[in-house]
Amino acid sequence: MPRALILGGTGLIGRAAARRLLAAGWQVDVTGRNPAHVSPEIASARFVAADRADEGQLGSALGNGADLLVDCLCFTAADARLLLSLAKHVTSTVMLSSRAVYVDADGNHVNSEIQPYFEGPVRETQPTVAPGDMDYRSREGYGANKVAAEHVALDSGLPITVVRPSRVHGVGATRPQEWVFVKRALDRRATILLANQGAELVHTTAAANIAALIETVAGRPGARILNCADPDAPSPLEISRIVARRLEHTWAEVLLDETAPDGLGLTPWDAPHPFVLDMSAAVELGYRPAGDYAATVAAEIDWLVDAAQSGDRRGVLPKTDDPYFSPFFDYAAEDKFLARHAR
Ligand SMILES: NC(=O)c1ccc[n+]([C@@H]2O[C@H](COP(=O)([O-])OP(=O)(O)OC[C@H]3O[C@@H](n4cnc5c(N)ncnc54)[C@H](OP(=O)(O)O)[C@@H]3O)[C@@H](O)[C@H]2O)c1
Repeated sequence: MPRALILGGTGLIGRAAARRLLAAGWQVDVTGRNPAHVSPEIASARFVAADRADEGQLGSALGNGADLLVDCLCFTAADARLLLSLAKHVTSTVMLSSRAVYVDADGNHVNSEIQPYFEGPVRETQPTVAPGDMDYRSREGYGANKVAAEHVALDSGLPITVVRPSRVHGVGATRPQEWVFVKRALDRRATILLANQGAELVHTTAAANIAALIETVAGRPGARILNCADPDAPSPLEISRIVARRLEHTWAEVLLDETAPDGLGLTPWDAPHPFVLDMSAAVELGYRPAGDYAATVAAEIDWLVDAAQSGDRRGVLPKTDDPYFSPFFDYAAEDKFLARHAR
């Protein structure tokens, strides 16, 4: 039986990978700090308490080696150096990076004040931000530290595949963006307002599709970089329709243009330009997606509804005063706008 070790294996991406590998007959070990974070669908995985910064604990978790090592917690060059000490004993290793590394011709990236503009789908050869070691939790530091970590991994000569996802969705998300439309449907709102006509394409990445790519890489070890995003890139309007259909809710769509008041009809997916990842390198390697956005997001929608209807005992739903989510739920401003325009 092949064996996989997933660092940070109880989180959004780790649990999707664990679930897929378990279903394919793998022995799966997941690390984390809190065993309570092991979700029921990966209950047959072995949980190993190991802090990502503790080389001794990680070494014990790896034991005599593994066929596959997945690192969901590699944020800095120092993290990557620690990963190398494990990857030496593993057939194929996957390090999770991000689309946040890419820069456009003006040097802008997704965490810049000005959003990047790309002419077309972005390939893995697109320039990145320069490697850096400022705080990786800062806007400027996240991509720079990921690039530094990628360099350590790829310069090692070990079979480490760097995976660059886009906007990840799935069961277990700590910031489940689809909640914006799920809650609206559960609140039985009769109207949905969408800024920019809800039109700009957003490239989503299902955790289930990352899991499919990880399984492909397990069978094709190598040092390389691979983008990972869904086979389609929906617009906020399409995402709203997918959620409403799943919940059998109908609402009137009000598609706002630039004359609408600022802040009205915002969604987590608003961006001035599309940012689409080219998936041909992964496909050439043999990757086949688990499904498109609508197919893969269904489980997350059901998970959110279940949490809302069962009192959210596991605390998965955003709090009502969550500063990230509250701008999307300004129902009073919407009602005022609609009343004014109904006259
Ligand atoms: N989510 C996205 O939209 C997205 C997009 C692009 C790239 N990525 C990249 O994908 C990777 C995985 O992201 P994710 O969304 O799956 O993360 P996540 O849901 O936050 O999961 C993190 C996991 O790591 C564990 N963990 C956290 N800190 C730890 C520590 N110090 N020691 C040991 N375990 C620790 C957590 O469990 P405990 O709390 O119990 O320890 C959990 O299992 C990250 O490298 C991220 O940069 C994510």
